[in-house]
Amino acid sequence: MKKPVFPINYRAIELPAYNANTVRAMIGLRVVEKQITHIADNHLLVKMQAAPCNPSDIAFIQGGYNIHKSLPCVLGFEGTGIIVAVGGGLSSDYWLGRRISCFAQDDSDGTWAEYLIARPEQLIPVDEALSIDQAACFFINPFTAFGLFEIAQKRNCQAIVINAAGSRVSDFLFALAKKQQMKTIGIVRRQQTLETLIQKGFDKVLLTTEEAFEDNLKTVLHTYETCVVFDAIAGEQTGLIANSLPANAEIVVYGGLSGKAVSGINPMQLIFKNLTLTGYNLNDWMNNTDNLSFNDVRNTLSTMITSGEVQQPVNTTISMEEIVKGIRNYLGAMSDGKMLIHF
Ligand SMILES: NC(=O)c1ccc[n+]([C@@H]2O[C@H](COP(=O)([O-])OP(=O)(O)OC[C@H]3O[C@@H](n4cnc5c(N)ncnc54)[C@H](OP(=O)(O)O)[C@@H]3O)[C@@H](O)[C@H]2O)c1
Repeated sequence: MKKPVFPINYRAIELPAYNANTVRAMIGLRVVEKQITHIADNHLLVKMQAAPCNPSDIAFIQGGYNIHKSLPCVLGFEGTGIIVAVGGGLSSDYWLGRRISCFAQDDSDGTWAEYLIARPEQLIPVDEALSIDQAACFFINPFTAFGLFEIAQKRNCQAIVINAAGSRVSDFLFALAKKQQMKTIGIVRRQQTLETLIQKGFDKVLLTTEEAFEDNLKTVLHTYETCVVFDAIAGEQTGLIANSLPANAEIVVYGGLSGKAVSGINPMQLIFKNLTLTGYNLNDWMNNTDNLSFNDVRNTLSTMITSGEVQQPVNTTISMEEIVKGIRNYLGAMSDGKMLIHF
């Protein structure tokens, strides 16, 4: 591997200002030239290969995410690359040339760049068999699904409900549930996604645009004795689902794709049916998981991908200059797969 020569000049996608209007926020993005003069102690230099766009990136550029960085900042919360330089205090023998997936949610530059400076705790070494595209999307969604699925396992669930079920988190939840012979009920907003999920093996898929959606929801949730709902949408849908659940069920809100506050929950459900409403955040799950268990989970998820048990489809691959087109394509067909930036 060629040793990098400092200073390194590189390109990155920068966000100059938050904007609640997605189109304006997108148009404001720019490809900028940046420079790295050295690598500080306990830091590593990653030559980035690919990074995806996730719903959290969209919420972030709108200023609607729980993370706010000092602006302007380089976008991107995850990606993959190779370690090309190692700061003092870290082992070059261990790190140099290693393939990693990375996570960048602290107040520093993100992954939509040719280079990323990271601390070891932001990196996971990845299996050589994992393709660049799969490694780029490895840090966030697979682990999120694993942590969520533990909730259903602890409750000894017979059936789980997943809304926004055409998503990548849903792909992993479905694969994990299938391993345990747990039934899966999906909720989607498009007929085409419904058909894809039925073909995949979901036990039941409900379409929110159908007139009989609410009636069907109640029937299905009771028939399958649902005990956990994984809710990525929130807003009124949380209320609709909550009011249709059998007693003692739990709704875990882990996304806010509707952009709206949770609403419409009948208090009688909470009082007399012992409904539980909780939140889930990957960062908390990681903080509560020791290194040994985390490595076991990493190996399990990596094997699920390399064995073909689950894949994260990629719909569009773009260069940095095509970022606006890429985000537009992604938002128009999220269920079809991720948009990846290749560097
Ligand atoms: N809490 C955490 O720690 C954590 C971690 C990771 C991810 N997440 C959340 O997990 C969710 C899924 O992420 P992902 O990367 O797997 O998503 P993804 O693969 O990009 O797919 C997004 C899915 O959401 C659907 N969708 C988007 N907006 C919707 C709306 N307003 N109403 C109904 N459906 C909608 C899309 O359906 P269409 O194709 O019909 O547009 C698509 O199926 C997101 O909410 C994300 O923020 C949370």
